[in-house]
Amino acid sequence: MNDSNSDYSNLKGKIIAIDGPAGSGKSTTAKMLAARLGFNYLDTGAMYRAITYFALTNQISPSDGDKLAELAHNLQIEFETHEDINRVFIDRKEVTKEIRTPEVTLHVSEVSAHKDVRESMVKKQKEMGKNGSIVAEGRDTTTVVFPDAEFKIYLIASVDERAKRRVLDLSQTGTDTNIEEQKKDIERRDHHDSSREHSPLTQAEDAILVDTTDLTIEGQVDKIISLIENSLKNKI
Ligand code: C5P
Repeated sequence: MNDSNSDYSNLKGKIIAIDGPAGSGKSTTAKMLAARLGFNYLDTGAMYRAITYFALTNQISPSDGDKLAELAHNLQIEFETHEDINRVFIDRKEVTKEIRTPEVTLHVSEVSAHKDVRESMVKKQKEMGKNGSIVAEGRDTTTVVFPDAEFKIYLIASVDERAKRRVLDLSQTGTDTNIEEQKKDIERRDHHDSSREHSPLTQAEDAILVDTTDLTIEGQVDKIISLIENSLKNKI
């Protein structure tokens, strides 16, 4: 177990990028890791969710690439992280809960597959990470957004375990669902995200694979910190 009082000052300015499929533990792990290291946390999926939510509430179709690209370019998406709560705002209006509804989840992969939407998002994400000291997570943070990140992790977990985690997460926000339903949704999104033409989900050659199936969240954070420490030792 890593000591939470450890000195991580040698990591200052570095970028840690974590990718992986839905439910692999990226968000919680990245958030906790950022808190431990005193880094900023960037949830790139929340940005695609924010555009999807805005489009759905403004009668813009998830297939309308041109309109969505305009939104992606113009909307101001901001985060405020306090302890383990990551608040999300579109043009100053809070949408933290709204972007996690099953309806947004159903359409987000279609929205995020548009090339021009991705270009705008990636530009904003690079800007957010330009000073380093950031833990970024998503589907293309290790490959496209921060290809030069000092530390790259690719998280995976079995579909059953990922579905179980999603059921638990959703029950905490009052959404009633079951494992079978979540398995189907995860498999649908995995397929969509891995087979799309632009920036598909894939493990970067230099990313370290971590299987989280049998790890607790604390265990995942500890494992990543020890991988980072080992990799630093090997670089010296
Ligand atoms: O991480 P989360 O499950 O919230 O992401 C929602 C969706 O956003 C993903 O299923 C994927 O379609 C899209 N996404 C993406 N690229 C990222 C992050 C998320 O295409 N970097």
